Amino acid sequence: FGVPDCLLEVNPGRVLLPPEFKDMADRILDFTVYPDDTWLVSYPRTGSTWAQEMVWCIGNDLDFKKAKETMQQLRTPLLELSAIMVDDNKEWMKELGNSVDLVEKMARPRFIKSHLPLELLPTQIHIVKPKIVYVARNPKDMCVSYYHYCKLIHNLQGTVEEFCDLFLKDRAPVGPVWNHILGFWKKRHEPNILFLKYEEMKRDQKGAIRKTAAFLGKTLTEEQVNQLAEYLSFGNMKKNPAVNLEPIIAKKNGPEFLNKCDLRFIRKGEIGDWKNHMSEELAAHFDVWTEENIRGTGLSFD
Ligand code: A3P
Repeated sequence: FGVPDCLLEVNPGRVLLPPEFKDMADRILDFTVYPDDTWLVSYPRTGSTWAQEMVWCIGNDLDFKKAKETMQQLRTPLLELSAIMVDDNKEWMKELGNSVDLVEKMARPRFIKSHLPLELLPTQIHIVKPKIVYVARNPKDMCVSYYHYCKLIHNLQGTVEEFCDLFLKDRAPVGPVWNHILGFWKKRHEPNILFLKYEEMKRDQKGAIRKTAAFLGKTLTEEQVNQLAEYLSFGNMKKNPAVNLEPIIAKKNGPEFLNKCDLRFIRKGEIGDWKNHMSEELAAHFDVWTEENIRGTGLSFD
């Protein structure tokens, strides 16, 4: 992922995705969408696993038992996973199955996750209008988090500065970033769209739960809100193998890998970790880039 040349440029627009995506692009565009689907869409590393766990639990009457027993990818799959988890050793991926097949075979109501931008999602989304929760995050934290993820999952060798440069030049995977975020920001007032920010989930987890439950048409008691907030806490998510990807990473990189490496999929879970990784100059470039792209849109980040 560190090398833009290994990514495919997909039309319409210019979205950087691995070449494997070509095999599923049309299938996804033509995908059948149902009104009782619930979608979670986000740019990677925005807290989407966390938000998706919240959405799935609310939508499934807080079935914590099933949530812990079944990997998130099987309960609420990332639609394009088979294309973005590029790996020479595909044995472990066979166990998960093709992600598009997986979603197609799911019983309704389906809970589906995607990191694709609006223009690459199924066209029926615009007609059927299923509920869509979109999650965004402060781009500096998102980039730093994505850098660590690429080191963990894609064996990225570059520096954090080089990775940040990909963002600033609109050459980041699944990017351009602003096209992704603003595509949904502009639709935020549509009744089937809920636009959430990582920072609001972090500052007020219970408020985010209540807001999401109301959006999904579910009523939760205060006790249930408390239980869900506890289940979704960073500490609990970090040690939950159904969401922390550790079983998958152990299969992909070997059982000893995680013992020797301190990188984790559920990593730090903080607002402002960019300060530990970006120089003042680099952060200033990010701020200018952000400002240039969100000026006049009404969007802001902490
Ligand atoms: P960091 O790398 O900054 O820690 P995604 O699921 O979209 O890939 O996003 C991953 C980011 O969400 C990671 O950020 C991860 O630690 C964070 N995250 C996951 N669960 C969380 C939780 N319960 N509370 C706070 N942050 C969480």
